[in-house]
Parts: sequence; structure tokens; C-alpha cells
Amino acid sequence: MFRVIKSVPRCLFGKGSFNELSGILENNRTSSNSHIVFLVDDFFKNKPLEKRIPLKGADYIIWINVDDEPKTKVVDSIRDQIKDSGKGMVSAVIGIGGGSVLDYAKAVSVMLTNEGSSSLYQGLNLAKNQGVYHIGIPTLSGTGAEVSMTAVLTGPVKKLGIKGEFTPFDLIVLDPELISEAPKNQRFYTGMDAYIHNVESMDGMNRNSISDSYATQSQTLCREVFLNDIISREEADEKLMVASYFGGLSIGHSEVGVCHALSYGLSYVLGLHHGIANCIAFNQLEEIYGKAVNEFHFMVEKHKIDIPTQISKRLTPEQFDKMAVTALGLEHMWRHAFGPEWPEHVNKERIIEWYKRM
Ligand SMILES: [Fe+2]
Repeated sequence: MFRVIKSVPRCLFGKGSFNELSGILENNRTSSNSHIVFLVDDFFKNKPLEKRIPLKGADYIIWINVDDEPKTKVVDSIRDQIKDSGKGMVSAVIGIGGGSVLDYAKAVSVMLTNEGSSSLYQGLNLAKNQGVYHIGIPTLSGTGAEVSMTAVLTGPVKKLGIKGEFTPFDLIVLDPELISEAPKNQRFYTGMDAYIHNVESMDGMNRNSISDSYATQSQTLCREVFLNDIISREEADEKLMVASYFGGLSIGHSEVGVCHALSYGLSYVLGLHHGIANCIAFNQLEEIYGKAVNEFHFMVEKHKIDIPTQISKRLTPEQFDKMAVTALGLEHMWRHAFGPEWPEHVNKERIIEWYKRM
């Protein structure tokens, strides 16, 4: 299967690169009747980073709460808030935060120029119009959201991304200083998203020399970050940022697999964040991903991280069913993992069995 991959065309990388943002944005300040909207994780409210955001004129910040995974109804309400602000044309949307905020920024950019609810655009290449210029600035690393063609959203009937050539950021700013204060568990869960991307990318029918090359290098970096005691935290942050970037590029050229399909079901029904949901699922997938799961267990122990277990004990049969239906619907992931005959390997019963181990 051949497909065209659109990647992020511009990347600014390096410690302190966030300080360049003000100068970069001057190119977008071409009209007195336009302004820039910053979507920022509300974790940074009243923190030093807030004061470093280069607001000018009618620019403003919309604080984003990421207690829940990104939702289509929230995208719609942010879009309406911006359109109803009376501040004129939006010349740029800047997302500053983890994967959820970056997904919101990508989705809002597209929805500012496409009519109706964002739930209408959950799928591949459904948006008709180019979005507003948008920049992604991650403050957590691992999801690859900074480089992906998808803004993952939970809608009224499904968890599925707005995916297409208008979704990727026009520019990303990768400043390792911005991830230096991430809480330990969150850093690990999100970092493992990159690790799992690489494992899944290299274990399926869509793998190819490009995806393998990115995944191999990203995996080397993940191991240096989570298994090497010698490197400094500063060096580790820089490597983790690149691991996330390359891991995202790898799945862009390949696909995710069993863990992500199961993880989507967990997030859709239980509202779990992507990183921790992946860790809960991957923790039980030794039969599929073998040694990689053993290595994951080793990293969990080394960093003294809590991976929730026995969550299935609290679930109703209806919840199991809904999770399994959500997971089973992600055909492209199963096809990648097991090939065209994937229905011979996976059915609702097997998926529920996996969930019962979690
Ligand atoms: Fe992921």
C-alpha cells in the first residue's frame, strides 16, 4: 500500500529556541486587523512560561484544560469563542503543551476555515479548506503529536482523528528546556508512547525502510533516556524530544498496532490519557510484543513507576463491550499488526480477554 505522507515543513530545535518565537511571529503580524491565538495548557497558568509568551496587540491566550482527552465539542467551542471574539482575523494558532494541547491546536486551525462541527471531519482528508497557520510547541515528549498528520479527537460516536494534509503544523519549536519540569510519572507514560510507537511500527505489514530507520534511531534514544544512568537530565530531555519526533515520523510512514487499538478503547470508555492507557495495555501484551514488553517492565521497575493493574475488576459487561467495539473498529491498526487476514486473529472475545488482564 502506498500513501503520501505530509510532514512538518519547518522545525526549530535546541535549548532556548522558544525565545525565538517572538521574532518568528513577526512574519504573521502583517495586518493591524489580525491577531494570534495561543492555546496553552492551563498547567502553565501563573507559571514563568506564561510571562514568556510573546503577546502583542489583540493577541490572547486560551487556557486549555487537559483533564480529559481532546473532545470534538471542546474544539467546536474554542473555534466559536475565537470567531465570536470580535477581534478580527486570526493569523496564527499556537499550541503550547502536551499531546492533547497540540491536537487541539491542529484541530482548531482546521476548524477555523471549515464549516460545521469537528465531528464531521473525523477521518481521512475530509476537510476542504487549508487551516490557519499553526505552530506546535511541545512541553511533554513522546506522543509524536508535534509531527503527526492527525489531531486525535473523541467525538459523540467515536475516537478518531482529523487526519489530512491540512492538519500538520507549519512549524514546530522543540525546546528541551520546556519539558524539563514535567512530573516524573507523566514524563514516563508519555515517553513510553514513543517507545511503543517504535515497537508497533516495526512489527507489522506497513513497516518499510523509512519507518524502520526512524524507529530504530528513536528506540536507541528511548533506551539512552530510560536505561542509561550516565547522561544528565538535560541531555536526556534533548534526546527524548528527538525520540518523540522520530517515533512520530516512523508511525507516519508505518502504523501503530495492537497496543494502540486497545489503548483507544480504554481512553474512549474510561477517559484515560493516551500515555497511561498505552502503558496499561502494553504491560499485558508480552504474547504479541515479547522482549519489548520485558524491556518495558524493566524500565518501569528502574524508574519506580506505578502502572495501574486490575482496572478491569471495576468494569461492567457493557463497558467491556464498548471498549472492544471501539478497539475492533480500528481496522487499519489490526491490519498492520496481523495482515489482511486479521479477522482470523482478532475478534471481540479475544479483545475482551486482553482487557480482562488489565
Ligand atoms: Fe501513541
